[in-house]
Amino acid sequence: MQFFADTAVLTEIDQLNKIGLVDGVTTNPTLIAKSGADFKEVIKDICSMIRGPVSAEVASPAYEGMVAEGEVLAALAHNVVVKLPITVDGLRACRYFADKGIKTNLTLCFTANQALLAAKAGATYVSPFIGRLDDINLDGMELIRNIRTIFDNYSFDTRILAASVRSANHVTEAALAGADVATMPTSVILKLAEHPLTDKGLATFLADWKATGQSIL
Ligand code: E4P
Repeated sequence: MQFFADTAVLTEIDQLNKIGLVDGVTTNPTLIAKSGADFKEVIKDICSMIRGPVSAEVASPAYEGMVAEGEVLAALAHNVVVKLPITVDGLRACRYFADKGIKTNLTLCFTANQALLAAKAGATYVSPFIGRLDDINLDGMELIRNIRTIFDNYSFDTRILAASVRSANHVTEAALAGADVATMPTSVILKLAEHPLTDKGLATFLADWKATGQSIL
């Protein structure tokens, strides 16, 4: 499973990059607004820090605007992925970019039918929003499982990018459900390494090692 950082904060991306935990980055207009950065500048900066795909979302709801904005975004760097909403206009723009060999991420996916449409439109990634479904008492993970089954039934290449990931448990469940990628906030990525028994065991090992009076170096 690939890990994408769901953030537009450069210091966070740098921190994760140093640990070797980032395969790509996703952004959305909300994350850009939160970062306070200039959209195109921050996308260029992220693309220079990360070798993998970096999703940059169009702001226009209409096909013509999506195409015009997507062209500008795709020209920012070779690893930009044009992020489009799953609407009729977004699907049409997806086909346009797919035919030009430009990678796309179809976002705001809440049903298996939407994912099926994204795959048929030639999307590189489709982003089912797990957390937002859980928020309204629906089962985000069931959606991932259903999309996995459908894509496998028809050998679609579109990659399932589990989004709106809110917890470490979401990551485990998405991996078990067959998601290809999980995009998550920095806090969740770092949480994956945590366990109290790891901390306790390490404290004991360090104390016992100190008591030997030895040094490895
Ligand atoms: C990423 O591509 C999505 O935009 C993001 O994961 C949405 O997360 P949220 O539901 O926590 O805002």
